[in-house]
Amino acid sequence: MNNQPVLSNEHETGQIREEISKLGKWFHNIDLKGVKTAPDHFLGDYPTVKFQGFSHAIAQDLLGKTVLDIGCNAGFYSIEMKRRGAARVVGIDSDERYLAQARFAARILGADIEFKNMSVFEIAQLNEKFDIVIFMGVLYHLRHPLLALDLLYEHVVKDQLIFQSMQRGSSQIDPLEGDYDFAETGIFDSPGFPQMYFIEKRYSHDPTNWWIPNQAGMEAMLRSAGFEITDHPEKEVYICRRAAQLPDNQPRAVYPAKK
Ligand SMILES: C[S@@+](CC[C@H](N)C(=O)[O-])C[C@H]1O[C@@H](n2cnc3c(N)ncnc32)[C@H](O)[C@@H]1O
Repeated sequence: MNNQPVLSNEHETGQIREEISKLGKWFHNIDLKGVKTAPDHFLGDYPTVKFQGFSHAIAQDLLGKTVLDIGCNAGFYSIEMKRRGAARVVGIDSDERYLAQARFAARILGADIEFKNMSVFEIAQLNEKFDIVIFMGVLYHLRHPLLALDLLYEHVVKDQLIFQSMQRGSSQIDPLEGDYDFAETGIFDSPGFPQMYFIEKRYSHDPTNWWIPNQAGMEAMLRSAGFEITDHPEKEVYICRRAAQLPDNQPRAVYPAKK
């Protein structure tokens, strides 16, 4: 695909602008031949500003690599991976409106990406492990976040996981012991003990925000699901490797594919 934003002629620009508007409100601001899809994003030029904080931590050359982008939205990260030469990129999302945006953006940019309507809880159906799995900005939208991480380990991550979650609370990290006595209760009052905040009502006006970890909680969940943290290039972003074995050597529950 062409890596440079190419300005189109006036007629084409008008058509692109019209199609962007027909596809509804965009969460990803993507430059489509000089037309931005979400120029007034509440987080600024998003996700470009986010990507600038960790883009260096991902290999520049992905030649021959396979990539799965879970919760791909309008495909910003899928497109970036294709720009780095990935052989095959699959983007999945459970919201058809975002997938329509992703298909349009990829078509305009000439990026050959396969987009599927699929939930993270259905990934066993892919029957494939990918060199790189991107799981950015989805965990806190799930009612069963640890199950999602277990499924990623079990079914789709061959080597690298690029992960991000919203975090709240303390960024203190307490050293953890192997076990604690029943009478030990003080640890739960420490801001550096792994925690997840449950949102019964709403946070940030979004009814799909359910569980938000503190930093210790996020890192502990990744480790517990079988991912070794190899880099932490940005406050919320982790680069992980799939460990050969789970930390406690205990098998996790086996989740069958949904038929
Ligand atoms: C905050 S956006 C993050 C988009 C993108 N990954 C990023 O980091 O910019 C969350 C995305 O996850 C998708 N999503 C939410 N629940 C999902 C699920 N169960 N399975 C797959 N995608 C999901 C939403 O539709 C949305 O596109």
